[in-house]
Amino acid sequence: EMASKGGYRHYMLKEIHEQPYAVSMTLSSLSENIEYIDSVVKLIAKADRVIITGAGTSFHAGYIAALLLNRYADIFVLPIISSEAMWWMNSVGEKDIVIAISQSGETIDTLKAVREARRRGALTIAISNVLDSTIPRESDIALYTNAGPEIGVAATKTFTAQVVLLSYLAINVARYRNTLRESEAIEYINSLKNLPTQIRNVLNIYEARIASIANEIRDKQNAFFLGRGLGLPLSMEGALKLKEIAYIHAEAYPAGESKHGPIALVEEGFPTIFTIASSVEGELIRSNIEEMKARGSMTIAVYPKNLEDIEKLVRISIKMPIANDFTVGALYIVPHQLLAYYTSVKRGFDPDKPRNLAKTVTVF
Ligand code: G6P
Repeated sequence: EMASKGGYRHYMLKEIHEQPYAVSMTLSSLSENIEYIDSVVKLIAKADRVIITGAGTSFHAGYIAALLLNRYADIFVLPIISSEAMWWMNSVGEKDIVIAISQSGETIDTLKAVREARRRGALTIAISNVLDSTIPRESDIALYTNAGPEIGVAATKTFTAQVVLLSYLAINVARYRNTLRESEAIEYINSLKNLPTQIRNVLNIYEARIASIANEIRDKQNAFFLGRGLGLPLSMEGALKLKEIAYIHAEAYPAGESKHGPIALVEEGFPTIFTIASSVEGELIRSNIEEMKARGSMTIAVYPKNLEDIEKLVRISIKMPIANDFTVGALYIVPHQLLAYYTSVKRGFDPDKPRNLAKTVTVF
């Protein structure tokens, strides 16, 4: 069994380390199918509205894509959890596109959303990591990440592969709609190609450090994950990971909303983990950090290293390489994955076998 784990203690850790490979394999399969991908890009570019749906980690990748399509391609996009999608489909019709994301391609809630979207005449695009699984088979169009099989119940490398595939689509949709200059589009595509090296560097630099930060939160019962913009879906994914494998009650919230309720829970030592994806977000989030600090919260921040003053503001700073909007998702999720993994192990749990959870949920 150790052999199938490639020398790693758990599948999850192996899969975290396979992310550079998962990203480069996904990028090469995109360039091998460039004509097909182009035709899909054109369809998305012509859509009136786009709904992006999925469950769990796949939904978080979809949320990132929704922000990117809205910001760069100027398309109205609704990100919605697949088990809730049925309540949002009333006005969906032939000019709309529903993108369904599912690593396994089998999640029943996501499959139901696809069926409903098709019944209403929308064009459905599935994004999956498993060839010929049910959701791609039942959708009009199937696109595949090429992350290799994922065994760990908590998704890691399939998430980064999804984010990269969706970023590639968003850049090209924006290019096609002329909302992004050709030269910028090329730069962004090149930045995706640099991601494997960047992820490898982050793993090398941070793994030991994050393992020691895990000591600081291993005995906590609760944590907040706060972010704005792209920092929000990253916070949601960070909180999900910590919750599912370390069994710490972790709640993700838009940072700006944290003063409307969550802050009531904060007392001395309560961990608040901020994820800042860009300097604009950093500008807006400072006051939220200060509010938490003033109440004794143990503040941790994952942020781009050029935002130097954040270091003085927080208790524990995780200074990341500067990323752009298309690379930040795949890069800044890595410390979150490591934090959840090491916290789980230090609490004495098996991160590969979280209680009550299944890799694939096919019951409604
Ligand atoms: C389950 C897993 C999650 C996963 C979700 C969606 O809840 O425990 O890790 O993100 O299903 O799975 P999918 O295969 O549709 O991406």
